[in-house]
Amino acid sequence: MTVAGIDLSATEFWGLPLAERAAAFAKLRAEPRTPFFAEPESPFSDPGRGYYALVKYADVVEASKHPAVFSSAKGATQIPDLPVEFNEYFGSMINMDDPKHARLRRIVSRAFSPRLIAKFEDDVRRTATTVVDDLLATGPCDFVANVAARLPLKIICDMMGIPDDQYDMVLANTNIILSGADPEFLSEDMDQAVLQVLGAGQALADLVTSLAADRAQAPREDLVSALVTANIDGEQLTSPELASFFILLVVAGNETTRNALSHALMLFTEYPDQRALLLADLENRLEDTVEEIVRYASPVLFMRRTLTQDYTMNGQDYREGDKVVLFYYSANRDETVFPDPERFDITRSPNPHVGFGGPGPHYCLGAHLARRELRVMLRELLARVPDITAGEPDRLLSSFINGIKHLPCDFSR
Ligand code: HEM
Repeated sequence: MTVAGIDLSATEFWGLPLAERAAAFAKLRAEPRTPFFAEPESPFSDPGRGYYALVKYADVVEASKHPAVFSSAKGATQIPDLPVEFNEYFGSMINMDDPKHARLRRIVSRAFSPRLIAKFEDDVRRTATTVVDDLLATGPCDFVANVAARLPLKIICDMMGIPDDQYDMVLANTNIILSGADPEFLSEDMDQAVLQVLGAGQALADLVTSLAADRAQAPREDLVSALVTANIDGEQLTSPELASFFILLVVAGNETTRNALSHALMLFTEYPDQRALLLADLENRLEDTVEEIVRYASPVLFMRRTLTQDYTMNGQDYREGDKVVLFYYSANRDETVFPDPERFDITRSPNPHVGFGGPGPHYCLGAHLARRELRVMLRELLARVPDITAGEPDRLLSSFINGIKHLPCDFSR
């Protein structure tokens, strides 16, 4: 593929084999200028004037560090500007700048306290054990449905106080919201697709509204209770803020860690030497392994920013109003920072990847939780099913999420 033949806005590009996609980003990184692309077609709005693709590590880090110049308020999770009603449902703090962002993050960070996270530690361990018990009882199966999807779903639902009988509904709706261009989840008829996405947001908003009403009367030890109860400074989320934060959290909590786990199994299948190395000292190598999985997989492929003023970065001029797309997937493969970047190396050190976002105010709120889930699940899985391997993945067609929809797995019993 030549540089001129690469189009990051073409749906087909995101369906290319992973190695071809990685090779295309390497070509873009080798270019002296920041590549510019026309916007992809969107069912939700008319295309704007295009965007710069930040494919180099230095650019992604600098843009993340300067949120006053590189704003999230016009939308971080998609390239086209969205109609207002979409931002209400799907925005929350990921699509905000300070001071609004800081206020929301302050309120929710308190609710996301170490005490609350610690409370779920046992839950994470117990769930991982049950998932592997069930896997061993079932035998070779779809790894995504039977393993990868289960832990993040249960943990985020438990944290929120969502009852078990709503799990399937939550997963179905988060799948729709982050379905990208994949026809398995979203209609190819654009009007229909818009209704599906709005409907999924509404279903989740209705769920939290009913939970919030209940918890306001009878608070429990869950996140919704913490968020509807005024805290020390009297700061509290309004109902619409709560609904959109809830949507962000269940979507981010479900659709990322799951894919990291599926990529992990693919990587251990492709790199048996790295599996053996990990198994030889599971306790001490797990932490670095999880970082390398997140670097290599980059489950969230990009976030967008919009310039609030003219700015020069690493020798290139940008103008106020320009859109830039921070391709974490490419930054995490930048050969000036990660030697031999296409090699999965659990001993990589240092490993300053940007899989959870660059340094700045929007750095992933769930990073600690995700790391913990990945460590506990991989420890349980690899200790008890050390020979588990992955077959051919059925990948999500999306430029935003590096998703695996289905993944056959095999192991001896
Ligand atoms: C491997 C798993 C995960 C990955 C790769 C990931 C990735 C990211 C990235 C790249 C961002 C940066 C957004 C930006 O700079 O605009 C982010 C933000 C965020 N993530 Fe995660 N995430 C993961 C797991 C989770 C989990 C488990 C949760 C919730 C329980 C979560 C909740 C959030 C929230 C709320 C934000 C927005 C923070 C803000 O705007 O201040 N994430 N995540």
